Amino acid sequence: LDNGLANTPPMGWLAWERFRCNTDCVNDPHNCISERLFKQMADLVVSDGYQDVGYTYVNVDDCWLAHERDAYGRLQPDYERFPSGMKALGDYIHSLGLKFGIYEDYGNFTCAGYPGILGHLETDADTFASWDVDYVKLDGCYSLPTEMDKGYPEFGYHLNKTGRPMIYACSWPVYQTYSGMTPNYTSIINSCNLWRNFDDIQDSWQSIASVIDYYGDNQDTIIANAGPGHWNDPDMLIIGNFGLSYEQSKTHMAMWAIFAAPLLMSVDLRTLKPDYKAILQNRKIIAVNQDQLGIQGRRIYKQKGIEIWARPIMPVFKGKYSYGIVFLNRRTDGTPSEVSVTLKELGLDHIEGYHIQDLYDDYDYGIVTPDRRFKVDVNPSGSVVMIRCNLYKGKPINNFIEATRDAQPRK
Ligand code: DGJ
Repeated sequence: LDNGLANTPPMGWLAWERFRCNTDCVNDPHNCISERLFKQMADLVVSDGYQDVGYTYVNVDDCWLAHERDAYGRLQPDYERFPSGMKALGDYIHSLGLKFGIYEDYGNFTCAGYPGILGHLETDADTFASWDVDYVKLDGCYSLPTEMDKGYPEFGYHLNKTGRPMIYACSWPVYQTYSGMTPNYTSIINSCNLWRNFDDIQDSWQSIASVIDYYGDNQDTIIANAGPGHWNDPDMLIIGNFGLSYEQSKTHMAMWAIFAAPLLMSVDLRTLKPDYKAILQNRKIIAVNQDQLGIQGRRIYKQKGIEIWARPIMPVFKGKYSYGIVFLNRRTDGTPSEVSVTLKELGLDHIEGYHIQDLYDDYDYGIVTPDRRFKVDVNPSGSVVMIRCNLYKGKPINNFIEATRDAQPRK
């Protein structure tokens, strides 16, 4: 969507995967969906350094609404849990220099059964603008996937008409795919800043692995749709929750950088352990995720449990790209696997070579020319090594660009 927003994938915090639809503020006041929770998370995004590395949005998901609209047909929050109202919550989030995201559903109800927007598209867009919302996620439960080609753009039209810039996050393609339709990505790109294509993420490695497989197996259909202002959304980051090992968490972050994915942490920032915080705040990996070319990476090798993924990034010179590269080991046979490759085999053929750095360990491979064989050891069970290969030209090139996106090899 060409609304000047999301030129790089949005970064922030989103409630759903970790806090779900916990509305029991009587017995569980600490974790229920309430203004208190969002204020605490917003505070921590700032005080614990997440804002400094780029996390900006604090996003409400399902279960913030009252079961009825107000007397004027407008949405209203559950005032037991949001006693100050949504405008006040947005004001608080803005006072910290952050941005405010909200959730609705293109249907009769949200997935959790709260009022949906059908029949109220204009009113709800106006309400969100009046609350100074910066980001709207529009889910797709209790609606007809066949109506979405009309409905999602229509709500986008009303958002735009408010005059307030709001990121528009759609669930349009995933509901259509599940109903057997082929999503019209040209239209989706025009209407949405990001969109979900696949299953909800859950707190397990199995879930992350299934997303990785989906993006690899369907890369020829979906990768070319990503770019500045319009992104594929493989769903939230679950790093620091209960289901992933430390190594798998590093993999999750590295793969979301390859995917040019929105980085929306769904984790309890109050109890996050330092090792996991360091993964979420890894500036080198975030730089790959936020690369300004906005080209999504692809799986270039897959055999016997070893995968190699590559994403073209800056600097660029005369049609040649730099790359973020992930070596992923999904074998479970206990010992590290040695991967031995030349850059040429990975499609990196700039004669003067590439400056290669490890993005998790403080290790510099130096300048590597395309024919030279180099080795990486990758631990098993969902571990990665992630490197950055910067084009080299006798001296390091800093952020040089002399190429267009059209020069990019699509296969
Ligand atoms: C389905 C969405 O895909 C999830 O991300 C979440 O928003 C839930 N609905 C909320 O009910």
